Amino acid sequence: MQRRHVLKMGALAGGLGAITERERQAQAQVARATRGTPSPKIKDVQVIAMQIPASRPAAIARPGSVRLSVVKIITDQDGLYGYGCSTFTQRGELVNAAIEKYLKPFLIGKPTDRIDDLWQACYNSSYWRNGPVLNNAISGVDEALWDIKGRQAGMPVYQLLGGKCREAADTYVHITGPDIPAVLEDAHRMMEQGYHNLLLNPTYAQGVGGLHEGGSGTGTLGTSSVFQSAIFARTALKWLEQLRTQLGDEIGLMCDIHERLTPNEAVQLAKDAEKLKLFFLEDLLSPEDLAYFRQIRQQCATPIAMGELFNSPHEWTPLISERLIDYMRMHVSQMGGLTAARKVAALGEITGVKTAWHGPPDTSPVGHMAQVHMDLACYNFGIQEFTFYADLTKELFKGCPEVKNGYMYANDAPGWGMEVDEKLAAKYPYGSLEEGERKQLNGGWGELRRRDGSVIKQ
Ligand code: CO
Repeated sequence: MQRRHVLKMGALAGGLGAITERERQAQAQVARATRGTPSPKIKDVQVIAMQIPASRPAAIARPGSVRLSVVKIITDQDGLYGYGCSTFTQRGELVNAAIEKYLKPFLIGKPTDRIDDLWQACYNSSYWRNGPVLNNAISGVDEALWDIKGRQAGMPVYQLLGGKCREAADTYVHITGPDIPAVLEDAHRMMEQGYHNLLLNPTYAQGVGGLHEGGSGTGTLGTSSVFQSAIFARTALKWLEQLRTQLGDEIGLMCDIHERLTPNEAVQLAKDAEKLKLFFLEDLLSPEDLAYFRQIRQQCATPIAMGELFNSPHEWTPLISERLIDYMRMHVSQMGGLTAARKVAALGEITGVKTAWHGPPDTSPVGHMAQVHMDLACYNFGIQEFTFYADLTKELFKGCPEVKNGYMYANDAPGWGMEVDEKLAAKYPYGSLEEGERKQLNGGWGELRRRDGSVIKQ
């Protein structure tokens, strides 16, 4: 039929005397490439739920292990399937049910090659949208469809996005510890491995603001976990000053505030840190306090990175279009996957906002790989967070992104170039590496309180 189509086109054009033999051959080639293989249909949608260990438990106390969820879409074509990340570690069971009970019956029989169309269909099929459970479920499907398209084309996904803008993605890694000598030691360990951008993560350090059990020893009313934001802000600033003095001007230095300050404390910290020429301050305000970014912008030039808790265009669009932040660092699966993220990245290219996608251990390596492909292909890439893989993780996910000298590389195999060892994954079901409260809460997080016993944002 296709041949007939091409012949007919040729005959028609020939009749008009407007087409050369060379053009006819080119048209035939395009027709073969686009219609030569039948459109694959979705035969099955599966969830691979597993638990992986944290990669640097000594330095980063939380999360100690992570529940991952990966979607596998199987097509009606022999051996053609794909993987996507749908990890929402604190509410994993709910995402998995959203995929198995709602998206799977919705998707069976639909063509895999209409990614944007399927994304819109899934997004709108719940009527209410943009929550973390549903967006993560859509992300798993979306990224699996990109993987399939890449495998079908025989190309890595970054090629489908237009090809490389750069050879590799520059990364930053976390440094932390109970006090500044320990943090400096951690920094030097990272620098010896070739990392040249370091994120101070005081939120995981015992003793900063009296965080976690046994922290400041001040005790509290009703619990042993205490957090005091004013002390936290002052300590973070002191530590950053020390790091800048001790590590020199050539190191990229950032700090994760984890949305734990009052708005006014956040404005003050951004102003006080201006002289340190940071790479950025991360998550300085919570999503509830976004209006304060305008004040920060008006008062100082400290670069601002924001977004890992965002679910919705209503949150990121004003910040990006009004140029109130410098780096968008949304959690890609939380946005709905690569399809959602690349569109926002394009908005950032127009407004001068760079990407710094959230890259914690609670994103599966498939999710990290989707980020690297965007990092390589998006001109306005800024930096990529990297948090290391445990050996078991590398066994579970063959073909993980690799970091050399602080730069992250995608592998060049078709799609994401990754395979999941499903037999091995079955040996690590949810809960298998957890104990205590985390296990009791089914992977959920507990609580943090002030000295007076009131709850704070985590
Ligand atoms: Co963060």
